[in-house]
Formats: sequence, C-alpha cells, structure tokens
Amino acid sequence: MADPFATCWLDGAYLPLAEARVSPLDRGFLFADGVYEVVPVHRGRPFRLRQHLERLERSLAELRMRNALPREGWVEVVERLVGHAGAPEVLVYLQVTRGVEFGRNHLFPPATVAPTGFAFVSPYPAPAPATLQRGLAASLLEDTRWARCDVKAVALLANVLLRQEAQDRGAAEAILCREGRVTEGSSSTVFIVRDRRLATPPNCHEILPGTTRDAVLELAREAMPCDVRTFSVDELRAADEVWIASAGRGVLPVTSVDGEAIGTGTPGPAWRSTYDRLQQHLDEIAGRPAMEHA
Ligand code: PDD
Repeated sequence: MADPFATCWLDGAYLPLAEARVSPLDRGFLFADGVYEVVPVHRGRPFRLRQHLERLERSLAELRMRNALPREGWVEVVERLVGHAGAPEVLVYLQVTRGVEFGRNHLFPPATVAPTGFAFVSPYPAPAPATLQRGLAASLLEDTRWARCDVKAVALLANVLLRQEAQDRGAAEAILCREGRVTEGSSSTVFIVRDRRLATPPNCHEILPGTTRDAVLELAREAMPCDVRTFSVDELRAADEVWIASAGRGVLPVTSVDGEAIGTGTPGPAWRSTYDRLQQHLDEIAGRPAMEHA
C-alpha cells in the first residue's frame, strides 16, 4: 500500500517527499534563515489553522521575510496534504525560508529572490496511556536561547540541545528559566496550578505565543480562575500541578521536576478536566470549516 505520508509540497508543486530537493545555498540551510509552523489536525480538521497562519505571518514580518504563499494558498496546501494522508490525527509542518542566492552573503538577498516554501504531513504522536496515567518528568534548565523567542524561527539549536539534555537526564521535556523566572518548555508552553488557580507566563519576547496555550486558557477559564503572570522556579516546584502544552503534544501533566514530585506526583484533577474538555471541544468542532474560529 502506498505511504499516505509520502507526498509533500515544495515551491508550488506536490511531489514525493523522497524526491524533494532544496539547494544547499538555501538560506534556511546556510543561516537557519526561516520560520515554521506545526499545525495539528484532530478528527480530520486542522486545529486553529487561522491562528497558525497568522502567527506565521507575524514571524515573517518580524524577520522582514516574504511569505511563500498567500493565506488561502496555505489553506489549500494544508487541506490537500491532509486529504492525501487520509488519517484523522496528523501534524502538518509548514516552512518558509528567505530563499536561494548564489554565494553566501549575510545581507538579505535582492527582492527578486523568491522565498522557499515547504510543507509535509506526519502522524500525530498520540500520548501513551502511561503518560496520561503517570504524567511526564521534566528537567529545569537555564534558558540559553536568543532574545526573540516570540518568533517561530527554524533556528532551534538551543531548543534541541536543551531537549536532549533533558532526555539524557531521563526527562521528557526541558522547562526553561531565566534569572529564576520560568519562561516555557523547549517546545511547549508551561502552566502551573496553585490553590485551584491556573497560571501561565505572559506573551513577550521570551516565549512563543502558543496556539495550544490560547485554547487551553479559553477552555480552562470555564472551570477555574486563570492568571497570565510571571512565576518563579520555586513556585513551579511548589505547585499543585504543572502542565505543558503544544500542537505536537496537546496538554500533558508534568508530575516530577528534577526527580522531585509535583503535588501528589500523579496527574492532577485540574489537568484531567482540562484534558477532557479539550477532547470534547475537538469532538464539537470536528467537521466545521478549517478557517472558522477555533
Ligand atoms: N513547538 N514554545 C516553543 C518553544 C515551541 O516550540 C512550541 C511548539 C510551543 C507551543 O506552541 P503551539 O501550542 O502553538 O504548538 C511553545 C512545535 C510544536 C514544534 O517545534 O514542534
């Protein structure tokens, strides 16, 4: 049977992923000069596609880079790749780089150089039952990333090193901090629950404005007070619950940090109800047009 994930989109053409080629002179390759999005597809419907495409446009504007497609063009690419994959739960990866120019020049290329656009689909890694029952371990690490973490840039070397460091310490995510303040995970937003109140750090240059973060906040607000505020590493360690959220992982409980239990050391009731509410929300919006709100 043909591999449903074998088709990608590159610079205007649909072609087998195995045959897709980009020049080594692409600025994404030479300078990590590009931006990306990861759009989760649940129940066959891209989740928060509008917000992902808006964030892509924002990242591009911040880097003074042109988009590879207008918004409607990306919608069509996402829908075609999802249709081709034929699976209800997938991730769509979109990337735009500043394009290919002969030589290696730090300065922006001339306006005649077109951006490179690329998209492909992969299976959505559903959380293992053990993760939902026992939660994840995390490591607290110093945030060594650059000063514009609000831009979803492909330059993820610091994120990769931090995530690997966490993995090497037996943890599934690195929770990052600057001067004692929690910023975010290496590829996720961080939430804490204390005294039945949810908190997550405010959007600023230190964190990515997460699409899952917004969905979690909207749904959690139905059930508990939610604060968008800075919190310290000490507060995180003393929290009743810690959660991480991202397009790739949904919302998951963190039950230990650096080997020390968070709260009871098991997934908490506030996480459980928010997780269930998110699943219910995904069921409710299944089948609605992809660009409709939510
Ligand atoms: N990462 N913070 C960082 C640093 C991230 O890389 C991500 C997501 C998030 C959560 O954003 P969202 O909820 O919009 O996915 C926060 C993606 C999934 C990745 O790099 O694979």
